[in-house]
Amino acid sequence: MDTFSKDKRYIARESAPIPLNIVRTDGSCMYDARGKRYIDFYVGWCVGNIGWTNARVREARRSFRGPDYFSPTYANRLWADLAELLVKITPAGLNKIYFTTGGTESVEYALQAAMSHTKRAEFISIEGSYHGHSIGAMSVGDSEFRKHYSNLLPRCHKIKAPLDRKAAQKIVQLLKGGRVAAYISEPVVCNLGVEIPTRDYFKTVAHACKRYGTVLIIDEVATGFGRTGTLFGAEHYTLNPDILCMAKGLTGGYSVLGAVAMTNAVAKSMQWNFSFYSTFGGHPLNTAIALENVRYIINNKNQLLSNANRIGGYFVQRLTAMEFRHQPVIHTKGLAIGIHFPNTAYPSAIKRRCRENGLLIAGATPESIIMFPALNLPHGLAREGLDIFEQCL
Ligand SMILES: Cc1ncc(COP(=O)(O)O)c(C=O)c1O
Repeated sequence: MDTFSKDKRYIARESAPIPLNIVRTDGSCMYDARGKRYIDFYVGWCVGNIGWTNARVREARRSFRGPDYFSPTYANRLWADLAELLVKITPAGLNKIYFTTGGTESVEYALQAAMSHTKRAEFISIEGSYHGHSIGAMSVGDSEFRKHYSNLLPRCHKIKAPLDRKAAQKIVQLLKGGRVAAYISEPVVCNLGVEIPTRDYFKTVAHACKRYGTVLIIDEVATGFGRTGTLFGAEHYTLNPDILCMAKGLTGGYSVLGAVAMTNAVAKSMQWNFSFYSTFGGHPLNTAIALENVRYIINNKNQLLSNANRIGGYFVQRLTAMEFRHQPVIHTKGLAIGIHFPNTAYPSAIKRRCRENGLLIAGATPESIIMFPALNLPHGLAREGLDIFEQCL
């Protein structure tokens, strides 16, 4: 039975997979089973930030000689070293790290910690956003989830984009009641097609969270590790969140790991029996690989970020000069690029044509196209990919 027939027979899915059977990755390219090359302009949705097949990280994976496993109740050097690094590079005030299996678990844990810290149960988040697929993460995500699950957390207030002074004022009104455990959002909302809050918005929200005792959770699962041209998106707004969620770029796709950074006060509020536990969160092999990936990012930070900003500028220049059949609105921050169209048929046809012509892109909403290329995307591949994109308009 071929791969697609077997997939159809055995894999639980909402619909048929994209007809691509990827067997190999290399830099900013993927190859299918027939050897066809695809330029990868979305790296698994902000996962492969340093590109695929990085020799150093792959070597760390190959040569790992540590324990196969240890219970999270033991101490281990790998955890201590990675936690130390993450505390150093995340915004000031985040002093403790908890390791998880990925983004959803990081968000789930952040919501729990906010409830434990404040003894409150309401949340504020952004309408249409995405924070993962657990009951808690879906509760603060897109309201569409409520159509299918009637039992999501009941008091989650949703704020509609644009995230400007007016939206911030709505949040201040909600916070005044003193019942909101946490505000949660991405710093730049990748999952809304790169929605960029104003500086005013975050200044007001952060200030009000402090004033009314609400935990500020910044979800950097997608934006973390350079995506928006700074190591963390929070840096654009000089934010000092109480909790920051990480995954994706933490391992670059070379292993499976999430992490939650939190203040000492939040961590302390979770010190009750069995509050911190995840069997595979912080698995030793995954932690060793993430450690090498983060070290690589730190050692090459200047080149990665300056390339992201330079190539990001090139994307803007090319995209704004293209002739689209339906004129889009383009949102960009670093190498997070969202292209919003007035209809759904056009972006979906472009995506299909691009794939047929060897370029992989994605969509955040049915009306949008997003591009999240690797931070070290070479200029030549950026040009080649954008040429394909232009031909497919
Ligand atoms: C902002 C954000 N938060 C959380 C998640 C969930 O992460 P994971 O798929 O690793 O559980 C995602 C996944 O796309 C995300 O983009």
